[in-house]
Amino acid sequence: MNDVLLETHLPGIRRIHQGKVRDIYEIEGKLLLVATDRLSAFDVIMSRGIPGKGEMLTQLTLFWLRFFESDIENHLITADVERMPAVLHPFRRQLQGRSMLCRKASIFPIECVARGYIAGSGWKEYRQTGAVCGQLLPAGLRQAEKLPQAIFTPATKAPKGQHDENIDFERAAAIVGRDHAARLRDLTLRLYAKANAYANSRGIIIADTKFEFGLYEGRVILCDEVLTPDSSRFWDSARYRPGTSPESYDKQIVRDWLEQQPWNKTPPPPELPDDIVNRTAARYREVIELLRKP
Ligand SMILES: Nc1ncnc2c1ncn2[C@@H]1O[C@H](COP(=O)(O)OP(=O)(O)OP(=O)(O)O)[C@@H](O)[C@H]1O
Ligand SMILES: [Mg+2]
Repeated sequence: MNDVLLETHLPGIRRIHQGKVRDIYEIEGKLLLVATDRLSAFDVIMSRGIPGKGEMLTQLTLFWLRFFESDIENHLITADVERMPAVLHPFRRQLQGRSMLCRKASIFPIECVARGYIAGSGWKEYRQTGAVCGQLLPAGLRQAEKLPQAIFTPATKAPKGQHDENIDFERAAAIVGRDHAARLRDLTLRLYAKANAYANSRGIIIADTKFEFGLYEGRVILCDEVLTPDSSRFWDSARYRPGTSPESYDKQIVRDWLEQQPWNKTPPPPELPDDIVNRTAARYREVIELLRKP
C-alpha cells in the first residue's frame, strides 16, 4: 500500500494526543500509538507526507524492542491489528503496520538522552560552557567528535511548542528521585551502547538518542518510540568526519531543499516537490533496511 496517511480518523475511539508524527488514542485503558506519514522539519509539519514513513518507524521500533528483550521489559502488547480490541478492526487499513497497542505506564517526566558524540544541543552547550548537563568534557572537542565515553544528558519534557531543557543529574534526581535517576541513567547508557555497537556493524553511527521509560505495576519499562530517526541522530559511518556537521540520515534532503526556498520557517511551509519526497522516502528505507538486515 503506497497511500500516504497524514492523519488518522478513528470515529468512536478517543484520541488523547497528537504529536508532530503520531496520533495517540486511549482504548480500554491502553494506549494506541499510530505513526502517520507526517514529516516535520524545523519543527514545522510539512503539507505532504512521506510514503511508508509511519510504517517504517513503527517497524524499526518493534525491531529495537525485540533487540532489547533480554535487557528490559517494554510497553508493547501487540502490533497486529487482528489481536487488538475488535472495535479497531474496521480501521485495519489505517492501522496495520504502523500502530502499536501499548500498556499505559506512568512516564518518568524526563527525557533520557544518551550521547556518544557531541552534536545538536550538546555541542551548543559545550561550546558555551565546556560541559554538557553539568558534565565537564575534555577541552578542544570538535563538532560531532566522538566522546571518550557516552554520557547521560537528561532533559526536561517541555510543554508543546517549547524546547526541552538540558538538566544535570542532580536536577533529574530531584524530579524522579535519586534511585530512579540512577536506574534510568544506567539503562539509557547500556541500551545506547548495545544499539550503537550493533548499528556500527551496519555502517551507521548512532550519535545520540532519547529513550522514555515509565513505571508499570511498579516496574521500570521501556516506552514510546525506540531508536528511530525521529528520536535519534543516525549518521553514515562512511561519510563521518569530525569537525563538520554530519548529514542526518533522514531529513537532510528536506532541510537542504527548504533552506533554498524563500521561507521564514513558520507555517505554512512550501510544498515539497515529488523528487524531494521520493528521495526522502528512499533514505528512510535505506537506514531501516541497513539496521534490520538479518
Ligand atoms: N507506554 C506508554 N504509556 C504512557 N505514555 C506513553 C507511552 N508510550 C509513549 N507515551 C507518551 O505518548 C506521547 C507520544 O507523543 P508523541 O511523541 O507522538 O508527541 P510529542 O512527544 O508530544 O511530540 P513530538 O512529535 O515532538 O514527539 C508522549 O507524551 C509519550 O511520553
Ligand atoms: Mg515524542
